[in-house]
Amino acid sequence: MLMLNYLNYILIVFIGLAICVSTKPEEVAVDYLDCRENTCTKLDYPLPSEVAIFTEKVTKDLRDYESLILHSSNLANLPRKIFLNLPQLVELDVLECDLQRIERECFKGSKNLKRLNLGGNSLRVLDSNTFELVTQLEELNLSDNQLEDLASTIFLPLKKLQKINLSNNQIKAISPYTFSQLGSLKSINLDSNQLRELPVELFRDQQKHLTQFSARSNQLERIPSNIFSEVELLILSFNPELKRLHLTANIDELQATNCGLESVKLDGRVIGVQLEDNLKLKELKIAHPEDLEQLYVANTNLTRLDFLSKASKLVDLDLTGIENLSDLPKISSARGLERLSFTYDNMTADHMDMLPQLKDLNYLEITHDKVREIYIKDLDEDFFVEEAELNCGQLADLLEFVELPKDTTILEDRLVGDPRGPLRCGTA
Ligand SMILES: *[C@@H]1O[C@H](CO)[C@@H](O)[C@H](O)[C@H]1NC(C)=O
Ligand SMILES: *[C@@H]1O[C@H](CO)[C@@H](O)[C@H](O)[C@H]1NC(C)=O
Ligand SMILES: *[C@@H]1O[C@H](CO)[C@@H](O)[C@H](O)[C@H]1NC(C)=O
Ligand SMILES: *[C@@H]1O[C@H](CO)[C@@H](O)[C@H](O)[C@H]1NC(C)=O
Ligand SMILES: *[C@@H]1O[C@H](CO)[C@@H](O)[C@H](O)[C@H]1NC(C)=O
Repeated sequence: MLMLNYLNYILIVFIGLAICVSTKPEEVAVDYLDCRENTCTKLDYPLPSEVAIFTEKVTKDLRDYESLILHSSNLANLPRKIFLNLPQLVELDVLECDLQRIERECFKGSKNLKRLNLGGNSLRVLDSNTFELVTQLEELNLSDNQLEDLASTIFLPLKKLQKINLSNNQIKAISPYTFSQLGSLKSINLDSNQLRELPVELFRDQQKHLTQFSARSNQLERIPSNIFSEVELLILSFNPELKRLHLTANIDELQATNCGLESVKLDGRVIGVQLEDNLKLKELKIAHPEDLEQLYVANTNLTRLDFLSKASKLVDLDLTGIENLSDLPKISSARGLERLSFTYDNMTADHMDMLPQLKDLNYLEITHDKVREIYIKDLDEDFFVEEAELNCGQLADLLEFVELPKDTTILEDRLVGDPRGPLRCGTA
């Protein structure tokens, strides 16, 4: 018994010692910095057991710059004393430096630091106290690293944080407390991680104004219906496991394309809704169609869109590739409709006669028997320079955010006898 305890004791000491070794890398003073203006390269400290120290001497020429860029270097540890010697720094970018570890004390003296960009390094683990001393930070970029999980209190000291980018990591789960007490946080990017769910409490301290939340390309299976109350741009596209989406929030723009969605219910005020390429989507309920300005539901399995008869502010509607839409919905109440795309077949023929009532329509795309026809109203007399041919680039400008469909021939409505042939844009 006594023997066993003794063994355990030895074991604990041994582990403790191992951690000590890894937390105390050996300091190596940097004796020369290869800088062009405020961009310094070729720092070579690749050993995790070594940490570079910036000295007063090497930082002398950097004191007038508000930003510092460390680039194309090999830094296993973030160098120490950067901010003790350069307290004026507002921005630090550490790019392509294979950075693996950041010690809390590296941020000593960082009283002006607002932007920290650590994107594109090799960070896998961050201690929960990493950002304790960098309390003025407003933007943090951790994208393109190998982060797997985040301590739930790691961002807690960043009370002024407005934007965080965690895209392209390997985050599997996120704690409900991750963004706690971050009352200024407005933009969160979690694209290309491995998240399966979002905790219902995640944004309880950002209820008032979230300008952007993006979790594209994850494995999200469900989103709690009341997780947001107000969000300007919400991006959930490319989550193949997401089958149902029910949100109560007011949303300016929702993008949830290319998911496995079968049913979508939006109870709040929504202005732009992009749901194309959800091949199984058969139910769409929008509680306030009177606010809707843009609706993209191409390539879905919807059969009815009755709410569109109340969508009086609609400007942009894409119904292409909805095979079983029982009727082209009555959209003649949408007097301001400017763009309309749909697939024409025998069943949708009934409402073609409403088209002339849509006085503002300037882009009409009709797909029929796999052929796409696009009609564009000449909006601006000055646009067509006399004798100059309309080219695809100009056309793309004219169509603003409409992406030119591939394999499309565009027939300009020209005077009889005009020898010019049809225009082919997009890559065939
Ligand atoms: C964040 O880092 C990534 C990867 O280096 C980069 O592509 C992106 O532009 C950065 N974003 C900002 C806002 O600096
Ligand atoms: C976040 O980083 C990604 C990839 O590096 C980049 O494409 C994106 O624009 C960034 N987003 C923000 C809000 O900075
Ligand atoms: C679309 O709906 C029909 C019937 O409502 C169903 O038979 C068909 O399998 C659905 N298609 C897809 C891709 O889910
Ligand atoms: C349209 O409905 C028919 C019959 O209900 C079904 O067989 C077909 O798969 C549907 N089309 C699509 C694109 O799902
Ligand atoms: C559509 O109409 C054409 C000609 O009027 C007819 O040949 C075709 O069978 C119809 N298709 C369907 C799906 O009703």
